[in-house]
Amino acid sequence: MKTANQDIKPVTTKINENGNIEIGGCDLVDLANTYGTPLYVYDEETIRSMTKGYKDAFKNYPKINMMFAAKAFMTKAICKIMQQEGFGLDLCSGGEIYTAVSSGFDMTKTLFNGNNKSYDEINYAIESGINTISVDNFFELALLNNIAKTQNKIVRILLRITPGIECHTHEYIQTGHLDSKFGFDLTQTDEAVELIRDEYINLKLVGLHAHIGSQIFEKQVYYDEVEVIFKEIKRIKDKYGINLNEINLGGGLGIKYTEEDRPISIYDIAETIIDSIKVHSKKYNIEEPYVFIEPGRSIVGTAGVTLYTAGSSKQVPKGRKYQSVDGGMSDNARPSLYQAKYSVEVANNPNGEAVEKVTISGKHCESGDILAKDIMLPEIEEGDTICFYTTGAYGYSMSSNYNRVLKPAAVLVNNGKSDIIINRQTYEQLCISDNIPTRLN
Ligand SMILES: Cc1ncc(COP(=O)(O)O)c(C=O)c1O
Repeated sequence: MKTANQDIKPVTTKINENGNIEIGGCDLVDLANTYGTPLYVYDEETIRSMTKGYKDAFKNYPKINMMFAAKAFMTKAICKIMQQEGFGLDLCSGGEIYTAVSSGFDMTKTLFNGNNKSYDEINYAIESGINTISVDNFFELALLNNIAKTQNKIVRILLRITPGIECHTHEYIQTGHLDSKFGFDLTQTDEAVELIRDEYINLKLVGLHAHIGSQIFEKQVYYDEVEVIFKEIKRIKDKYGINLNEINLGGGLGIKYTEEDRPISIYDIAETIIDSIKVHSKKYNIEEPYVFIEPGRSIVGTAGVTLYTAGSSKQVPKGRKYQSVDGGMSDNARPSLYQAKYSVEVANNPNGEAVEKVTISGKHCESGDILAKDIMLPEIEEGDTICFYTTGAYGYSMSSNYNRVLKPAAVLVNNGKSDIIINRQTYEQLCISDNIPTRLN
């Protein structure tokens, strides 16, 4: 069955009677006029179609725990939606924990990930009642045990391992290959298990965790990931008599940014994961484990679009035509970070014939601040509303104040209603952390 991550546009996208693009029953040109640009627009129906898709696809495996990877897009409103949908949260910083706590999220459904959690973050995570911590390295094992001891708590942990699986995605978003900054190498797990058993008595090892990468289009890597984890669980059981019955498979399901992308559906990965679990439980005589999955991009990526207003343009004699917009690498770092490509339309002229090859450039002082290179669009006029699709994941969350440009607002649209979920930053907020030492006055 097809799922929303296999389309470029949010599920509610259409062209309305004004000839403009409409999402969630809201005219994008009206949204741009009302809230200003750049503007992130999130379609609630698309988000919920993905969460429901995950639940449906795994319905025959009741020992499943869905955790939204908050790094993809974290706000209090998204926490509310995830709670309503019965999802937990995969959190990876003190700031993400704080956002979850202040949204009133049920912290017994959260997990803490990351390769360099600080003392303060771990302390805060435990105090906040985090359910499980995925431990990344030896340094963290010792630190966590000390903090747990000080707080007089026993903390449930997973060991994050690098399963040695290469998936065909950009090298910056591959994580499960052997030479990775994340997790224990498989040659190090014995030492970790022995330390937990013999010394770190405030830690309770419940299972293993891996995340093989992001923007994944293949099923086989998930099958292989489950197999590697099961082999490790079996080895630990045979060697130490320890039964680990929780596994975390990470996230990674890809989405469709451009027509060339061929992402698989949620049903494809669910079937593959469940199949591999059944096969390997039987093969290694291990009880079917509780399974965590942590999708991020696939939940919010397709749901979000970014609106810009067209500004200056420049035709380089015998060269490219550059069309500038009022945002850029500060609201979407992905094109400059890993050459990410997007599908683009003019929201006030979606039916216009694509007659011009243009390069959409951002407003920042960097030649690399290019949002889309050499794409075909109708002739653009100053003031047009330019819509970038599939910007819902890792757009706002990687945004910056480069050039002291303000962070955009975000609205959630549904059934003709739009609600602000992130206010546009103000100049006052921009300078709120600045301090002038008295000797400079
Ligand atoms: C440990 C972990 N889990 C889940 C995710 C979410 O991945 P995605 O957004 O590709 O689903 C990430 C992304 O970096 C991650 O590092």
